[in-house]
Amino acid sequence: MQILQDKKIVLGISGGIAAYKIPELVRRLKEQGANVRVVMTEGAKAFITPLTLQAVSGNAVADSLLDTQAELAMGHIELAKWADLIIIAPATADIIARITAGMANDLLTTLCLATNAPIALAPAMNQQMWHAVATQANVATLNERGYHLWGPGSGEQACGDIGLGRMLEISELVNLSNDFFADKYLQGQHWVITAGPTREAIDPVRYISNHSSGKMGYAIAQAALRAGAEVTLISGAVAISPPIGCQLIPVISADEMHQQALNYAKKCTTFVACAAVADYRVANIAEQKIKKTNDAMQLELVKNDDIVADVASLTDKPFIIGFAAETQNVEHYARGKLMRKNLDLIAANDVAKSGQGFNSENNALTLFSAIDKTEIPLANKQIIAKKLVSLINQHFLAKQN
Ligand code: C5P
Repeated sequence: MQILQDKKIVLGISGGIAAYKIPELVRRLKEQGANVRVVMTEGAKAFITPLTLQAVSGNAVADSLLDTQAELAMGHIELAKWADLIIIAPATADIIARITAGMANDLLTTLCLATNAPIALAPAMNQQMWHAVATQANVATLNERGYHLWGPGSGEQACGDIGLGRMLEISELVNLSNDFFADKYLQGQHWVITAGPTREAIDPVRYISNHSSGKMGYAIAQAALRAGAEVTLISGAVAISPPIGCQLIPVISADEMHQQALNYAKKCTTFVACAAVADYRVANIAEQKIKKTNDAMQLELVKNDDIVADVASLTDKPFIIGFAAETQNVEHYARGKLMRKNLDLIAANDVAKSGQGFNSENNALTLFSAIDKTEIPLANKQIIAKKLVSLINQHFLAKQN
C-alpha cells in the first residue's frame, strides 16, 4: 500500500507566485492515494483560480470563513478535525506572521488555531524577506511550537534575486509528505552511508574516477530518513541533490572519505558502504598541470585503504553493510568480500547486465549474510532502497537479540 493512501490532507495556499505550481502538488498527492481538500487565502486567488484546484483535487475549494453554506455545518471546525495533516504551500511571510501571532482573520489562519493536526509550512518569499529579523523570529517560534518547516530552498527567485526563499520543488514536497506518514521503524538509529565515486587527482586539473552516479547510496539515505533514522551521507562528487534532512559530508578523494567515514562510524548504529571507492590513487600528484610533451606517460599508483574493512576492525563497530558490483561470479566474489572484510551483510549486483547498476535508474540486488541470501528483484533504486533498508534492519535486530 502507498504511504499516502487514504491520508486526509488539507492543502492551504497563500498568496505567493509559487501558488501556480500547487495544482501539480495536488495531482501528485492524489496519485499516491491521498484525499486532498484545498483552502485558499484571498491573495492565493490572485495567482491561481479555485476552479483549477477544485478540478484537480476533486473536492470543493474552501476560501471563506464567512461562507454561509459551509458554515451551516461549522465548515472550519469540520475541516480542522478532518485533516491528518495540514500543508501550507506556498507559505508567505504574511501567513507565517499571522499564524505566529495566533490571528484568525481568514479561513486558513482559523484552521491553524482550530486544528489538532500537525501543520507543515513550505515557505516561499524573497530572500531578503526570509532573512528579515521578524520572519526569522516567527519561524523560530513556530519551530518551537512543533510546526514542520519544509524549506525554503535556495536558487533563483521570481523577482530575479538569488538565495534562500524559494518554495521547495513539488517532488520534494511529495517526498516530505511521504516521510511524514512513513512508519518510523528506524527511530533512534544513526546510519552512516558512503555514496558516489571518489576522484583521485593526477595533477591540479585531472583525476581518475568511475561511473558511479551516487543514486543508489542517495536512495538508501532517503529510505533510511523516511524510516526515522538520523542519516549522515558521506558523498563523493555527484550531480544529484542529497535528501532533505540528512547530514551531508562532501568529500572528493578516497583518503578524505576514509577519514570522515572512520570518524562518523564510531558514532553510528549502521554503516552502509555504497561508495565506489577507487582502489588506487596516484603516488605523486603533480603540483602543476602535466604537459603533453611525451608520446607516452606512466603513472605510479598505490593502493587506497579499504574504508569498510577499516570500519569493521573498529573495537566498537557498527552493523556493517558492504556492496559488491561484479561483472561475473557474483555470489562467489560477494561472499569472499563479506568474509574478508568482516561485514555483516553484502549487497551484490551484476553490473554487466544492461539497465541496472552504475548510473542507471534501476537496480537488482542480492543481499548475502554469512548464512543466507535474499533477492531484491529489478526495480527503480527508490524501491530497491526501501526494501534493502527494511531487510538490513531485520538483520540488525536479529543480531541484537
Ligand atoms: O571495491 P570493492 O568491490 O572491494 O568494494 C566492496 C565494498 O567495499 C563496497 O561496499 C565499497 O564501498 C567498499 N570499499 C571501501 N573502501 C575501499 C574499497 C571498497 O569501503 N577502498
